Amino acid sequence: MSRDSRFEKNIICIGAGYVGGPTMAMIAAKCSQYKVTVVDISAARIAAWNSEHLPIYEPGLFEVVAEARGRNLFFSTDVEAAIKEAEIIFVSVNTPTKTFGEGAGKAADLQYWEKTARDIVRVSENDKIIVEKSTLPVRTARAMERILNANEKGIHFEVVSNPEFLAEGTAIADLDNPDRVLIGSQLTEEGLRACQSIVDIYANWVPRERILTTNVWSAELSKLVANAFLAQRISSINSISALCEKTEANVTEVARAIGKDSRVGHRFLNASVGFGGSCFKKDILNLVYICQSYGLHEVARYWESVVQMNEYQKRRFVQTMLRVMFNTIAGKRIALFGFAFKADTGDTRESPAIDVTLQLVEERARVVVSDPQAIENAKKDLESCLSLIEFAEDPYKAAEGAHAIAIMTEWEDYRKLDYKRIFDQMEKPAFIFDGRNILDHQKLYEIGFNVFPLGMPASKHF
Ligand code: NAD
Ligand code: UGA
Repeated sequence: MSRDSRFEKNIICIGAGYVGGPTMAMIAAKCSQYKVTVVDISAARIAAWNSEHLPIYEPGLFEVVAEARGRNLFFSTDVEAAIKEAEIIFVSVNTPTKTFGEGAGKAADLQYWEKTARDIVRVSENDKIIVEKSTLPVRTARAMERILNANEKGIHFEVVSNPEFLAEGTAIADLDNPDRVLIGSQLTEEGLRACQSIVDIYANWVPRERILTTNVWSAELSKLVANAFLAQRISSINSISALCEKTEANVTEVARAIGKDSRVGHRFLNASVGFGGSCFKKDILNLVYICQSYGLHEVARYWESVVQMNEYQKRRFVQTMLRVMFNTIAGKRIALFGFAFKADTGDTRESPAIDVTLQLVEERARVVVSDPQAIENAKKDLESCLSLIEFAEDPYKAAEGAHAIAIMTEWEDYRKLDYKRIFDQMEKPAFIFDGRNILDHQKLYEIGFNVFPLGMPASKHF
């Protein structure tokens, strides 16, 4: 099949997930002159993208999809037809941590990525630009070019790296107004031409000075490093939260004081029960693995400690619960407010709430999980102990008869609940553990709660 000549460019994306769907919807909405087709092997996912109930929850996403869908944005399972038609192929398949063989537990599992490359080679009839949208180990583009250009049809594929920096919950705002767009290419004539084609897409709405072009290895590595730096800030402030609890310093005050230094900056300094999400841990471990494979063991250990601190923070949270609830939580009802890894998403991948729940279950607590968007995913995550857990979307119901509440996700709604009403329905003494430091602790104390925030003095009635 040749290109659809009604459109200036035929762009496709392989992988209709959290990145492929929103990113391509934004390109289609901003560039009605391009035909944008998003394909996936999951028929269920594609059906959901074509329905009123999109497969992911993301504020503002539906409006963007609705604007372009059927006009110049299409979702399809016909991967082959889409590949044939495309001039530019974004690849946004999953690149999880490898669970087997060499590098298990750290290295990126590139099987989906390579399968896509082989599909592209098999089906293509003309030259194409392949855009790495997935997060990949540095130097993957070299392997891809070898696989793609080993074809015997005389077709040339140019591989460009264009990593995605959107955060879930704010994906649409991030795509609409990105801090930067990064495009890395080979510095050959063909590479630079391919790079310019990708620049031209984003230049439809992103100011030119925010579109950075680099060599392809810098682009690949920058994505891993960006996530590592962000996660490192959280682990740094979380490590200090432990010290604050020992010294009566207040981690929020410390974060404000250091964040006022413009060299440090104030963002990403909220102490928490731990960072989650599909990428921070996976990408840091991938970075660690790459460093190890180049013999840079000190560098690898340095970055690995960011993940270790995060594991410590989750364990520490449960240990505090156990200690202050008189060293036993067996049989006690504990309501978790929030299960998503952050607010404004239904995504629970690597959510700290998973580990906290499993540890509480291990202590034989009766856990009730509450969340406005993530109950379905929570049920899948907790499959191994489903019969021991209750689920209640309504936080008031979850807290009925509970001994303790633990805030796991910073949903805005949790700030606004009627905590007097909740307190009245709980077992006494009633405990609240604020794993996100979002509540009014003084007010809760006055209601009668024993309040345990992170990294600041507790307020208790005994
Ligand atoms: P996802 O699991 O939500 O989506 C990946 C999709 O690819 C799935 O729907 C899967 O069915 C499809 N797929 C796999 N193999 C395929 C094949 N051979 N042909 C067609 N479809 C195939 O993953 P995601 O969260 O969108 O992440 C994708 C990539 O983007 C990852 O590398 C991730 O690290 C990176 N990333 C994710 C985020 C995020 O916020 N989730 C942000 C930036 C970068
Ligand atoms: C993160 C990055 O922010 C994106 O730039 C990147 O594209 C993406 O990973 C990716 O590669 O997948 P995301 O994981 O969606 O985005 O969400 P973040 O806002 O970064 O939050 C990650 C975790 O850190 C959440 O669990 C959040 O609650 C936690 N967090 C964040 C804190 O504990 N404290 C903070 O101050 C900020």
